[in-house]
Amino acid sequence: MVVSMPRPLPWVPEDSDFAVIGSGIAGIIFALFASERARVTVFTKKEQSESNTNYAQGGIAAVLDPTDSEAEHVRDTEIAGVGLCRREAVEILVHEGPPLIRQLAQWGVQFSRRPESGGFDLGMEGGHSHRRIVHAHDMTGRQVEEALLAELRRRRNVTILEHCYVVDLEVGETPDGRQCTGLWYYDPGGPCLRFHPARAVLVATGGLGQVYLHTTNPAIATGDGIGMAYRAGATLANMEFVQFHPTAFYTPNGTPFLVSEAVRGEGGILKTLDGAPFMEHYDPRGCLAPRDIVARAIDAEMKKRGDQHVLLDLTHRDADFLRRRFPFISTQCAEHGVDLTRSPIPVVPAAHYSCGGIECDTWGRTDIAGLYAAGEAAHTGVHGANRLASNSLLEALVWGKRAAESCLSERLGVQMPRALAFRPLNQRREGMEAIRWVHMTGELRRLMWDYVGIVRSSERLRFAQRRLAVMQAEVDYLIESGMGIVETFELRNMVAVARLIVESALHRRESRGLHYSLDYLRQDDTQPPVETKVRINPFAFVG
Ligand code: FAD
Ligand code: SIN
Repeated sequence: MVVSMPRPLPWVPEDSDFAVIGSGIAGIIFALFASERARVTVFTKKEQSESNTNYAQGGIAAVLDPTDSEAEHVRDTEIAGVGLCRREAVEILVHEGPPLIRQLAQWGVQFSRRPESGGFDLGMEGGHSHRRIVHAHDMTGRQVEEALLAELRRRRNVTILEHCYVVDLEVGETPDGRQCTGLWYYDPGGPCLRFHPARAVLVATGGLGQVYLHTTNPAIATGDGIGMAYRAGATLANMEFVQFHPTAFYTPNGTPFLVSEAVRGEGGILKTLDGAPFMEHYDPRGCLAPRDIVARAIDAEMKKRGDQHVLLDLTHRDADFLRRRFPFISTQCAEHGVDLTRSPIPVVPAAHYSCGGIECDTWGRTDIAGLYAAGEAAHTGVHGANRLASNSLLEALVWGKRAAESCLSERLGVQMPRALAFRPLNQRREGMEAIRWVHMTGELRRLMWDYVGIVRSSERLRFAQRRLAVMQAEVDYLIESGMGIVETFELRNMVAVARLIVESALHRRESRGLHYSLDYLRQDDTQPPVETKVRINPFAFVG
């Protein structure tokens, strides 16, 4: 773990119409649409392109082939989501996605095209009944992020603040109920927290994969937005549904990169170490079954055989085709000593995506006025108990735009500039050893991997629950006693998010989609499926 050196802050405007936390696809799309008629400030904690979006490989699902249909994309999404998708949200997703893909192309995103027709080259992924994945080779995210950031930099009304870490949301009581009036960001020069007033705040902070030891997510994915929304009293939904991607590249020291589901879409076969294919024993759809099923099958094979990983074999496919279709994965494999045209790739499941998040409606509105959420940090009801492959970038696009439209059309509270407002931070020299948060972060990630992973039990969850309560007290103590730095704020969010996952998992007394419990092996079909909704102050399950 690398301890980041605090950087001096860039110039920060006194206030904004809308403040955005995050410069991944959801935050950028919001800013692109909202800045047509409002001043937008984007806060982002690292370089502006550093996001989950930047690492996306497979692509964006959209109905663009005349032989495909919206009804089929809706059906595939709902089958993957195992009864918990909200129909209205899925229909919006599927219907509003394709025009946005065309808009991205107009903004300069270079998607892969079919040489003969010039149309989009559509890929195949698990759970889809059609080829419908628009992609830029196997580096879709990087292409999207670069082109959209370039477009955003051309906008006059937008300020992008890099290395500007947002710590908390400001929520006040008004006669009409709770309202978000801005955010607090970290100023290492103070050291202090400074207030940035805004008529609305969009949380677009992405995922939480860093809560687990093995993850496909980059270091930014510490669940910050979910943590701050929880502390602010917003409702969170379906936090137990953490998606494990079946195929991250395995090394004894970790999972350095993802091996896209598109690899199975192009014929990749999962095998045990002795070369035996196994997916057909688990599901008639074989290697292209939805992710929850594939990840559990791999987990079961590894446990049965005592192996550390399984194999993904592409050696029967044409070598030139593989290098052309998967340039990033081919190069990454080669750097780790694997020529994927000649040898199978060692793979393991790794934490990948949070299907739950900040509860919001079809316009990205949360239950706090002026507080919006979009992208992976949000729960829109699209993914249900398990996300369909390549529906995440699509959801971030659709809800990023919708949240912008909603902000522009609603009468949101007007704030007086309070740029000078600040809260001092306690940063004592003694007791500032980095080992305190480094150790606790490692402990948390291993705890979640070992006890709150692909296969769960109530006993393991309760063990994690007790350990996390101790960690919560310790991290609060660290911040109060002098470690008010970005790393401990991140750790506080990771602990909060971990607790939300565990509490929500304990609350669900069945196995469904990504939540699989040895104590409740069956799906409860005796009553309509329910979402798990929880909020703080007081801690309660709602709905
Ligand atoms: P992100 O892109 O993660 O952006 C979050 C932003 O918030 C970052 O800029 C971050 O720095 C900032 N931030 C976070 N906390 C703070 C804070 N406290 N203060 C300031 N800034 C903050 N999905 C698909 O649909 N198709 C794919 O092919 C695909 N491939 C994937 C491959 C990989 C390896 C991974 C990890 C994910 C993939 N996904 C894919 C999932 C998808 O990429 C993400 O769900 C999506 O990009 C999330 O976008 P976002 O805008 O919500 O968040
Ligand atoms: C992948 O390329 O396998 C990731 C796709 C996704 O997360 O939807």
